[in-house]
Amino acid sequence: MQTLTVELEDRSYPINIGEGLLGQHSLLQAAVPARDILLVSNTTVAPLYAPAVKSALADRRVVEVILPDGEQYKSLATAARVFDVLVANRFGRDALVLALGGGVVGDLAGFVAACYQRGIDYVQVPTTLLSQVDSSVGGKTAVNHPGGKNLIGAFYQPREVLTDTDVLKSLPERELQAGLAEIIKYGMICDSAFFIWLEHNMAALRALDATALALAIHRSCQVKAQIVGRDEREQGERALLNLGHTFGHAIEAATGYVEWLHGEAVGVGLLIAARMSERVGGMPADDVARVEALLKLAGLRTAAPKIGAAKAAGYLSIDKKVKSGRVRLVLMKGLGQAYLSGDYPDAALQETLRESFGA
Ligand code: NAD
Ligand code: GLY
Repeated sequence: MQTLTVELEDRSYPINIGEGLLGQHSLLQAAVPARDILLVSNTTVAPLYAPAVKSALADRRVVEVILPDGEQYKSLATAARVFDVLVANRFGRDALVLALGGGVVGDLAGFVAACYQRGIDYVQVPTTLLSQVDSSVGGKTAVNHPGGKNLIGAFYQPREVLTDTDVLKSLPERELQAGLAEIIKYGMICDSAFFIWLEHNMAALRALDATALALAIHRSCQVKAQIVGRDEREQGERALLNLGHTFGHAIEAATGYVEWLHGEAVGVGLLIAARMSERVGGMPADDVARVEALLKLAGLRTAAPKIGAAKAAGYLSIDKKVKSGRVRLVLMKGLGQAYLSGDYPDAALQETLRESFGA
C-alpha cells in the first residue's frame, strides 16, 4: 500500500492506494472510527463491494442508502433522501458517511456530510478510475441543479481516501478510458516525464496491470494533492486542474450529458486546449500531435461533435472560470507547462472553435 497526504493543516488527510484494501478489515476499521456509519452507494456498486465493507465493520451500526445509478440522481432530491435516513436513524455529529462508488456517489455523499448537522466526517472509497485519480481527492462536493452541473456544493475535505485498485476489474472499459483522460491531464499540466511514461505504459494501464495502475493513480493523486494543498478553494492554481474541461463541458452540455462521459469529453477538450495553446501559447505542433496520439492509445475519441463554433462559444461563456466577462482558459506553453490566461486574441479562440466544432 502507498500513502500520500493532502496537506491542509488540521484538515490534512491520507490517500491510501493499494490492491485488495477492501479485504483488509483493520484498514477500514481505522479509516472510519465512528460507531454510527452511513454507507452511501448505488445499485451497481453496492452488490459488488458493500458486503466486504460491512463485514469489516461488523461491530458498528452501519445503515445503508443505495441510490439509483446515474448522474441524474446527483440531485438535491437524492441528497434530501439521504438526509432523511440520517435523521430517521438519529445519527449525531459523531456519525460518519462512507461513500462507496464513483464520482457521483462521492460528490453527493460528501455534500450530505458537509451539510448534515453543519458537517460530519466522511470517507471516500472511490471505485472508478476517474474518482480514484480525481473526484475523491480535494474536497469538491456537490449536487447538480437543473440549471447546471455542480451548482450546489461545498469545499469539504474527507477524513481519508481509501483506494482499492482491485475494484477496477469490474469497471466497464469505457469508464476506465474516461479515467485515463484525467490521468493524461496531469501529465499535460505539470509533468512531462509522466506524460512520456504514459506514452510507454498506456497498453499496460488498459490491461489493468497492477503495477502500472498503482503508479498512475499515485502520481495523479500526488499532483492533485500538491495543487489542492496550495490552493484549496481555487483562488488561482487549482484552476489548472480544469485543463480541457472548458471545452469538454461544452461537449457534455451540447449533447445533453448523456452521449459523452465526462472523461471522454475532457479527453477531446485536452486536444482542443492543446490546439489553442499552439496558436497562442507557443506549444510545439509536435506536442499537440503527441496529445492526440496518446488519447488514441487510451481508446478515447479525438473529434468533437460538430455543434458549430457559435454554440460552443455560448457554452464557454458560462464557464466557472469567466472573470469580468472574459473566459479564462487553461493553456500550455508545452507539455507539462500549463497556465491560466484570459489574455489571448479572440480570433485565435474563434479559429480553434471552428476547427474543432465546425463553422
Ligand atoms: P459515476 O460515479 O457515474 O460512475 C460511472 C459508472 O461506473 C456508474 O454506472 C457506476 O455505477 C459504475 N461503477 C462505479 N464503480 C464501479 C466498479 N468498480 N465496477 C463496476 N461499475 C462501477 O462516474 P465517475 O466518472 O466516477 O464520476 C463522475 C462524476 O464525478 C461527475 O458527477 C463529475 O461531476 C464528478 N467529478 C467530481 C470531481 C471533484 O473534484 N469532486 C472531479 C471530477 C469529476
Ligand atoms: N476536478 C478539478 C478540481 O478538483 O479542482
